[in-house]
Amino acid sequence: MRPIGVFDSGVGGLSVLQALRAELPDEQFIYIADSGHAPYGERDDTHVIHRSHAIAHHLVQKHHIKALVVACNTATAAAIGQLRQTYADLPIIGIEPALKPAVASSKTRRIGVMATRGTLSSGKFRKLLASLHGQATFVLQPCDGLAYAIEQGNAIKVGAACAHYTGAMGRFGLNSDEIDTLVLGCTHYPFAAEILQTLVGKDVIFLEGGTPVARQTRRLLAERGQLAQPDPSDEVNVQQLHMYTTGAASLFQGAVQKWLGLHTPVQTLVIE
Ligand code: DGL
Repeated sequence: MRPIGVFDSGVGGLSVLQALRAELPDEQFIYIADSGHAPYGERDDTHVIHRSHAIAHHLVQKHHIKALVVACNTATAAAIGQLRQTYADLPIIGIEPALKPAVASSKTRRIGVMATRGTLSSGKFRKLLASLHGQATFVLQPCDGLAYAIEQGNAIKVGAACAHYTGAMGRFGLNSDEIDTLVLGCTHYPFAAEILQTLVGKDVIFLEGGTPVARQTRRLLAERGQLAQPDPSDEVNVQQLHMYTTGAASLFQGAVQKWLGLHTPVQTLVIE
């Protein structure tokens, strides 16, 4: 039984891993947090492409993964095309800001998009935006420093950044000129959802991409007949999860406990 590889620049992809584990309870997962080389969102494409290739190579060579989930909007935007070229036989699933579901859900047709600078300036995002031209007004907000503050578990900085960026986006609410739908276009941001909801009000709908990614992963594996089958001899379903970080193990371990409620041991890894 081969595992599914999942990576992000750090803790953000845990929000996607949560959805993957719920959708695919019989699968094994290898998660790599590239915290030693984060944040990705304020670095140039060369860095993000290099890191994505290095991690994919490691997952393929060392863990013989059967699918790769790029649990990072920034890495998906910068590197997924090249990864798919390099690993043509491997199902590779990426994540993008949930603009299409936002158009379907918004009544005011005013949609906020919080994401990294890298994601918002990417060709892939511009194309997505152009495909929805005329269907809604999108208020795009690059959130420098927010993913890093979440990564560090620094609640004061997270709160200050959220207040600053939601303030910059204008008014939120259900009136016609207000933002009623907020796209969390970086996988770190769902971990700031509570404070964001306090700031923008309880009526605003939040959209993130973890669940669609998990469903797409299931679909691709099912098409290939590669879904893990439940072991009937297992009385308790012990899901296998291996966690690695290229940064500080204690920080990542704390995040795994806090966000997933798991005590899975974390190992430090060097990937050049
Ligand atoms: N979690 C990543 C994303 O979804 C980026 C965070 C970072 O800047 O490293 O875009």
